[in-house]
Amino acid sequence: QTNFVRAPFLQPDATGTDPSDGAPVNYYSVVEKAATASILPRLMTPILGYNGIFPGPTISVDQGTKAVLRVRNQLPSQHALDGHALSTSTHLHGSASLPQYDGYASDITSPGFYKDYHFPNFQSARTLWYHDHGVHFTALNAYSGLAAQYHLHDPAERELLPQGRYDVALTVSDAMFAEDGSLGYDDNSHSGLWGDVMLVNGKPWPVMKVQKRIYRFRILNCSISRSLRPTLSTGDPVVVVGTDGGLVPTAQTVASWRQGGAERYEILIDFRKYKTGQRIELRNLSNKNNVDYGFTNKIMAFDVTDEPVDTSDPTWDRIPTSLAANNEAMALQPGQSVATRKFRLRRNDTTRMWTINNDSWQDVIASGYKKVVAEPALNSVEIWEVENSSGGWFHPLHIHLVDFQILTRNGRQPFPYERGPKDVVYVGEGETVRLIMKFTPHVGLYMMHCHNLPHEDHDMMVQFRVSLPGH
Ligand code: C2O
Ligand code: CU
Repeated sequence: QTNFVRAPFLQPDATGTDPSDGAPVNYYSVVEKAATASILPRLMTPILGYNGIFPGPTISVDQGTKAVLRVRNQLPSQHALDGHALSTSTHLHGSASLPQYDGYASDITSPGFYKDYHFPNFQSARTLWYHDHGVHFTALNAYSGLAAQYHLHDPAERELLPQGRYDVALTVSDAMFAEDGSLGYDDNSHSGLWGDVMLVNGKPWPVMKVQKRIYRFRILNCSISRSLRPTLSTGDPVVVVGTDGGLVPTAQTVASWRQGGAERYEILIDFRKYKTGQRIELRNLSNKNNVDYGFTNKIMAFDVTDEPVDTSDPTWDRIPTSLAANNEAMALQPGQSVATRKFRLRRNDTTRMWTINNDSWQDVIASGYKKVVAEPALNSVEIWEVENSSGGWFHPLHIHLVDFQILTRNGRQPFPYERGPKDVVYVGEGETVRLIMKFTPHVGLYMMHCHNLPHEDHDMMVQFRVSLPGH
């Protein structure tokens, strides 16, 4: 158990204006480098981090302000664990970025070089995250520490939900350690990495002091493979107010929820009724086909204090019921769809590669990056049906560029907590989901892949091309 810490916010190096449209621009920079982190008592852990920390610094920006992030790769030439070349590609997960700034897996920057990534930030308020997406080594690079949150704010969200110190980022991951404190990585079968230590913002099982008020938590499951099923030790429910793509239309009260890698849930926890000194744990119930250990059933804890509450902040006791009235993804209707495509997730029995419709990133590379699984027209709406026929595996499937709505899960309504805009869908064992999405606002090549990162790296990733109609 450790004290809860927050990742620092990244300050812009400079601000300016985009001459093309007059929009304000924030210029940021981070350095990818090898460093050591204090995670375990008395030991230092070598990591790779943005600015040398894990999680990396949080970027917080308002809708309408563009961001340019210069990522300098000052990593060693090879990874200490397996010797792979440390060339990186940075993806802002949840952003509708232009293809050249989307962290395309094979668009890599080698040590000693930098790349400027342009992020448009026109989307609605949401919790995004940036992480490495380097081809075939995303899992080990992200696990080593190249991951950080990114918060996009807008006026509606600022009005409705707790801000500042009551708006708390929780980057949750699991890890395993060698006796000297270094990270262990064990994935011989390319099926997943299952750590026995749960980290929140890079600290094991931390304890956070809270006031008797409502807090907002932005929970990112940053685990390489593990899925979570968070719940409170009191049995009290939490209120889900946001999903991957931002605020939900209607707040949902749930006792627990399933959260795969890369999924984000924004929740409110109401500490008003608890007693001073009371400890409330955020626990982790088990999901099928994770490898559980003695203490992976706990994530963190909250200690309730008698620190005075500022009741002039209207969010201190407010639990909104309706949040996002006009969310584009949630307003889509099946009748608008011009095509239905089917995707099957499975492992090829001969090659042992993970595939989507029998394709993999290896096939994309072999085609000279030409092979696509779909070619939706710009601004068209489609339904994508995803079937997990891989036996005992779950796959958190991520589609770049778009926010989608989950229409059905196994023919029924999606779970209450996933009735919001999403960019990752948990496709559990034997499950089938139907998604609806609009391909906007950019044309070009975008990836779709499993966010169990060893699956992605071996090689459960394909691409689609958004095209101008008639091309
Ligand atoms: Cu979070 Cu393609 O990634
Ligand atoms: Cu998978």
